[in-house]
Amino acid sequence: MKLWGGRFTKSTDSATDHFHSSISFDQRMYKEDIEGSIAHAKMLGKQGIIPVEDSIAIQKTLKEILGEIEEGKIEFSEAAEDIHMNIETILTERIGDAGKRLHTGRSRNDQVALDLRMYNKKEIIEIKAMVKELIKVLTDIAEKNTFTIMPGYTHLQKAQPVTLAHHLLAYAEMFKRDYERLSEAYRRTDVMPLGSGALAGTTYPLDREYVCELLGFSAVTLNSMDGVADRDFCIDLLTALSTIMMHLSRFCEEIILWSTNEFKFIELSDAYSTGSSIMPQKKNPDMAELIRGKTGRVYGNLFGLLTTLKGLPLTYNKDMQEDKEAVFGAIDTVKMCLPVFTNMLSTATFLKDNMLHGAKGGFSNATDAADYLTKKGVPFRDSHEILGRLVLYCIEKNCMLEDLTMTELKAISPVFGEDYYEAVTLESCVNGRSLIGGPAPTQTVKVIEINKKWLEENK
Ligand code: ARG
Repeated sequence: MKLWGGRFTKSTDSATDHFHSSISFDQRMYKEDIEGSIAHAKMLGKQGIIPVEDSIAIQKTLKEILGEIEEGKIEFSEAAEDIHMNIETILTERIGDAGKRLHTGRSRNDQVALDLRMYNKKEIIEIKAMVKELIKVLTDIAEKNTFTIMPGYTHLQKAQPVTLAHHLLAYAEMFKRDYERLSEAYRRTDVMPLGSGALAGTTYPLDREYVCELLGFSAVTLNSMDGVADRDFCIDLLTALSTIMMHLSRFCEEIILWSTNEFKFIELSDAYSTGSSIMPQKKNPDMAELIRGKTGRVYGNLFGLLTTLKGLPLTYNKDMQEDKEAVFGAIDTVKMCLPVFTNMLSTATFLKDNMLHGAKGGFSNATDAADYLTKKGVPFRDSHEILGRLVLYCIEKNCMLEDLTMTELKAISPVFGEDYYEAVTLESCVNGRSLIGGPAPTQTVKVIEINKKWLEENK
């Protein structure tokens, strides 16, 4: 018999049960469901809506059920549809009428909204810790590499020299923003919907603020219809998770490139690489590729839910049951990828000589050579033109800008002097960019300090 069976004369067929049941995936919210019900029961008793003895019996039995679920002693049933009704059914089997009083002034619509908010809050805290760990590893590697020169790219063409520290600190900025996005998502999730009822609240004198306090929420929802129809907090989380995956994926793309024989900027630990079943020489960056690949799923979860929600009239519609697999799937994927990525990075070896060698080719000091002339009074556009011609000359001669003789230089511009050679060393190029946000070690050291402070403050 279904908990809602009164109005029905026929029972659902088993295929329908299987189709609309969500217990296979929403059982992971058992703890939140029980904690929410305990708070609700406590409040019902305090308000005199149900007898205090019943409230106490409900709370006690729910705690027992929680313990048994955790010990793996409870089997959920598909016919009972979802985690909410499974637990209520077990409760009622044990304490009869008292159990039947639990759902007074409550609907599964506000119950599921509550459970999911509680579940997401817990997960957001865990994911934030993982993002923080990654930022810590980035900061540590950066600290050891403020003088490690490497080529910086635009269009994947060598552009200007930077340092490995500066490159990694770019990612630290991204992950700091991700951390903030998660905090923002948390803030909007941290609102308590119970008391919204099915959609229009209830006539029982519920103490919503009391429940809010019991469950550790910051505020109560202000509109009962929105309280049950809103899944923005899921979209917020999925957006934050998609952005994390986008950042991880970009980083993975670089790691894959850097691992190639052509780049050879990084050597991944054997623990984070795999071999080929046919080619004995291969060492593939599979973990990085998988993380890049799994990004698609998380985007899929976001777009799936956005699409599910887009046509829904107020308030609750069963379509919304689709929210959970999207949210759980994205959470699971991100929680799997973040630690793998962090460990892959912390165990990798950076091949600094190859990075330096890479920065030497490709005329990555051409801007600085042009700036050299401009600092001596040549208008920048003219300096740009002169250097363009010099680069062309070097390509024909198969040499680098710093290899040109003073005679060759003066032939194109009399402004060149002996100090040119010092001005175009890679060290000068990097050290000279000492403005805020620049790659000069004097600057990156400051950013590393800022990040360390950030790590301290965001405990
Ligand atoms: N299993 C449902 C879900 O996940 C719970 C809410 C059901 N409410 C209802 N009126 N059918 O959305």
